[in-house]
Amino acid sequence: MQIEIDSDRIQSGIDELAEISEAPPPIVTRVLFSKADCQARAFVQARCSDLKLAFREDAVGNVFARWAGEDVDLPAVATGSHIDAIPNAGKYDGVVGVLGALEAIRGLQRAGFKPRRPIELVIFTAEEPTRFGIGCLGSRLLGGVLMPEQALQLTDSSGKRLSDWLGEIYPRAGDLRSVRLVPKYYSAFVELHIEQGPLLERQGIDLGVVEQIAAPATLRVELIGEGGHAGAVLMPDRRDALLAGAEIALAVESAAKESQSPDTVGTTGVFRIEPGAVNSVPYRAVLEIDLRDTQLSARDVALRRIRENISAVAHRRGVEAHLDVINQDPPAVCDAALVQAALQAAARVGFSARRMVSRAYHDSLFMAQICPTTMLFIPCRNGVSHRPDEYASPEAIYKGTLVLARLLEQLAS
Ligand code: GLV
Ligand code: MN
Ligand code: MN
Repeated sequence: MQIEIDSDRIQSGIDELAEISEAPPPIVTRVLFSKADCQARAFVQARCSDLKLAFREDAVGNVFARWAGEDVDLPAVATGSHIDAIPNAGKYDGVVGVLGALEAIRGLQRAGFKPRRPIELVIFTAEEPTRFGIGCLGSRLLGGVLMPEQALQLTDSSGKRLSDWLGEIYPRAGDLRSVRLVPKYYSAFVELHIEQGPLLERQGIDLGVVEQIAAPATLRVELIGEGGHAGAVLMPDRRDALLAGAEIALAVESAAKESQSPDTVGTTGVFRIEPGAVNSVPYRAVLEIDLRDTQLSARDVALRRIRENISAVAHRRGVEAHLDVINQDPPAVCDAALVQAALQAAARVGFSARRMVSRAYHDSLFMAQICPTTMLFIPCRNGVSHRPDEYASPEAIYKGTLVLARLLEQLAS
């Protein structure tokens, strides 16, 4: 069976979707529940209905588009990714896995393929952590890793809770408890994604097949000091929340650099201060810290050091510190047989492929809780991601999509 993949269709979809952004081109910003996020969902839904896929949206906005198989009772093979984007992002992260999957399904339909199992595209809600500080909101709920009661209490920087947002955007959404999928709900899950690292490009390899996904931990630290007049409050009398935060950010860097593992990385990506006036001592600071490693033990040693430092700095500077560990996830190990099947699918169409580790996290981390999971990585220019100049070539996307189609064909037969 010949499968035709239309690269131009994928590329025009990527370009059109990139225009749906909260920031001017080439920046893509689509934060959960923003107007751009809602418009992007509508854009993708329209593309799903072109393919006559049965559409379902769950209570947290995860979208499922199903191509029924001959045996509708068999667990489906699933594929998909996300369309939300962090502030100042590019157009490929997540989007390649959604529009590539749609094109893989289109190619299989046009080739006359009749799947025995259903094939389901999943578009996950908020893979990115921007609004609530927690990544993979939709897939965590699907995988039963985040309890619905906890999720409803998640609060964004304006003080608005997830429960309020859901009431506004999905007024008819059911109970969040209905989101969770039972184990083995899918027979397999495969996510196509850009590598977000430089290895494939450097080595001139077409595809990466992911065996392991690094384990993230996210902390939110609120520091309460004392504000005052920048001219009048003398230095010995200050309890400056920003300066405590600055020391903590440096401690995050040291904990990662001094880790026994070369893979430990720590980032303070959010640092907000109040009142934010040049002539006023900052009385409040909020930091969000991202810490990762493929080895859980190394990540957790660094995490312990950071926690100790937060207490020590707060004590020394006389500020109150409230620490919230938003998530502390174990790494995912991908399914060995599925990894092998993906490598073989690449070999059958004549593309080079290697096994690899994902240093970024993905919804696959949580899908791996409920079904055999792997990811297909394609090279991206200079390994750049989470930036407007993120780029993957049409040829790389074509290859990833064709291998995905071949793998779906095999898994659904
Ligand atoms: C996902 O976007 C990540 O931060 O790894
Ligand atoms: Mn991302
Ligand atoms: Mn992504």
